[in-house]
Amino acid sequence: MKNILVTGASGFIGSNLTLELESRYPGARVFALDDFRCSSYKNLLGFRGDVLAYDAADRSWLRIFEHQPLDTIFHMASITDTTILDEKKMMFDNVEGFRNILDLARSKKAAVVYASSAATYGSQDTPMKESDAGRPNNVYGFSKWVLEGLARNYGDVRNVGLRFFNVFGPRETFKGHAASMIYQLCLQIRAGKRPRIFKYGEQRRDFIYVKDVVEGVLQARSAQENTVVNIGTGQATSFNEVIDAINEALGTKVEAEYFDNPYGFYQNFTQADIRHAREAIGFNPRYTTREGILDYVRNYLTKDGSSAPALKA
Ligand SMILES: NC(=O)c1ccc[n+]([C@@H]2O[C@H](COP(=O)([O-])OP(=O)(O)OC[C@H]3O[C@@H](n4cnc5c(N)ncnc54)[C@H](O)[C@@H]3O)[C@@H](O)[C@H]2O)c1
Repeated sequence: MKNILVTGASGFIGSNLTLELESRYPGARVFALDDFRCSSYKNLLGFRGDVLAYDAADRSWLRIFEHQPLDTIFHMASITDTTILDEKKMMFDNVEGFRNILDLARSKKAAVVYASSAATYGSQDTPMKESDAGRPNNVYGFSKWVLEGLARNYGDVRNVGLRFFNVFGPRETFKGHAASMIYQLCLQIRAGKRPRIFKYGEQRRDFIYVKDVVEGVLQARSAQENTVVNIGTGQATSFNEVIDAINEALGTKVEAEYFDNPYGFYQNFTQADIRHAREAIGFNPRYTTREGILDYVRNYLTKDGSSAPALKA
């Protein structure tokens, strides 16, 4: 990889990826595209490359690459707040942004790794296999499902879609209320409150640490065939177990406060089947959810009160 474009580069996953790319490939030229609609330059402190403050769905930025070679595009830009219900905006921004990326990749003969989501599954049986998707519960999940179809129509472009499950870790602060549940619960406990979760905490999710996600994104660059893979731990962790792990990390013994779930479209149980990810991209997560929480809380959240410090190897 010598000339790399990362979109959504100042966002949570994108910034962890961008900084990791600079550290692993010091000779590469890295372009970071983000319109900063829900992120901050603070996530990119230390970055030495070029920053393009454009909306990916706009076509004006494509001229910047007219005479610039590109071999790899990591497309992470997206509206990520699943509570946004403006269907036109969600569909236009997410899908048209990706269409521009695929057109650019085709003209440059660049490979594309793009973010899809476990939201493409909706309320399916678990563990979720790649072939099970297509009945999302909300327009966000639907936009990701449409991205995957679009990618199939660009069969001449090397592309791999990654269905991230619930990601948590450093640099998610700027997502605000859309940041991970693990982050929100840590904030509540640190503020001296009881962590609030839906009754009775036995919902289970596949929570994956961002360090493993970054590794999966990089591994996907070397896939031999176009495909879509799950990026999760392969294990489902209950909300009560998440609170146990946070208590362990913080040395506290705070009990949960349960309340009614107000969402009609909530995924109560997610768990990735990661066999295809193992075969297709060599994905092998290093952290269990508990281990990820311990690393996150001890090495980032409790150090300076933010989740922004640099991702450590
Ligand atoms: N975090 C998760 O748990 C999770 C789960 C499933 C999928 N994903 C996907 O992973 C990717 C990264 O998510 P994240 O958690 O880092 O979210 P994020 O919101 O922190 O990052 C998205 C970034 O994209 C930027 N952006 C949005 N629309 C844009 C546009 N049209 N043009 C330019 N920039 C734009 C935002 O400013 C933000 O910096 C997204 O595609 C998301 O859908 C994330």
